[in-house]
Amino acid sequence: MAIQPFKTIIVCGAGTMGSGIAQVAATAGFQVIQFDLNQAMLEKSAQNIALSLQKFLDKGKITASEYQQTIQNIQYTSSIADCKGQLVIEAIIEKPSAKIDLFNQLLLINGSDLVLATNTSSISIDAIATSLVAPAQLVGLHFFNPAPLMKLVEIIKGQFTLPAIVDQMVALTKQLQKTPVICKDSPGFIVNRVARPYYLEAMHMVQHGLATMEQVDAVLEATGFKMGPFKLMDLIGLDINYSVSTIVWEDLGKPDRLKPADIQKEKVNEGSLGVKTKKGFYQYQ
Ligand SMILES: NC(=O)c1ccc[n+]([C@@H]2O[C@H](COP(=O)([O-])OP(=O)(O)OC[C@H]3O[C@@H](n4cnc5c(N)ncnc54)[C@H](O)[C@@H]3O)[C@@H](O)[C@H]2O)c1
Repeated sequence: MAIQPFKTIIVCGAGTMGSGIAQVAATAGFQVIQFDLNQAMLEKSAQNIALSLQKFLDKGKITASEYQQTIQNIQYTSSIADCKGQLVIEAIIEKPSAKIDLFNQLLLINGSDLVLATNTSSISIDAIATSLVAPAQLVGLHFFNPAPLMKLVEIIKGQFTLPAIVDQMVALTKQLQKTPVICKDSPGFIVNRVARPYYLEAMHMVQHGLATMEQVDAVLEATGFKMGPFKLMDLIGLDINYSVSTIVWEDLGKPDRLKPADIQKEKVNEGSLGVKTKKGFYQYQ
């Protein structure tokens, strides 16, 4: 299997994470193709990237020419036929079958040298890889939200992942000015495994009338957390956070202590997904 240098990075999904990852890759000088099935999401992503870059410009963290160059480095498309490059970073819905279909289509378009990176928060890398025509090309590349600001990237090596691809991901994340940590393919990897009780205990307390969500957030923020758990879940997206809780819980054999919370399920069912729908645990403008 030939290892090729990356020139063009295909970022699939133009939602919360895909938008941020496209910005990070374009800022580092890569040509980026941002693909989403939903045209409105592509337009929203372009607006969000411009807004975010403007903030960096205002703070003097980038120059006016870097702002322009980054914007020019990104091409937006809703046609998968345009997705030609050497690396794909996938940030679509947290559903194995959708990710598998997408990767197999991209392998057909680009050939089996295409490196496949998934930003999944919780789906097993091996479970995706076994349904791919090129399982050794798949690696987990887990960015955190908001991707332009958060330094950590978990790199998840599956049992089939080529070691050279893991090395390439370590080099890439450094080029993106991020801090890589290599993880095993176990439920929730490291961060989402350790963080599960943080979210769940907060929701269980509110569900049982022991505290309000405002009180829980205020207390955690006063102890030094940048955001309390309810504000953080709204930022992540309640649908994503609920899917991650469910997958981690099921993959660990459904322990009671990690059972997903009913109040989150209710929010997801009513379509209150957090900041992205302007309503979650809190309301947004
Ligand atoms: N939200 C977070 O804080 C966070 C953090 C780290 C990782 N992740 C992971 O990143 C991925 C994306 O999460 P998100 O929060 O950005 O989701 P999101 O709901 O904000 O965006 C998902 C996007 O994918 C698009 N999409 C769905 N199916 C598609 C397909 N087949 N082809 C192309 N586009 C498609 C949707 O139109 C939408 O724009 C998930 O796997 C999630 O677990 C999320």
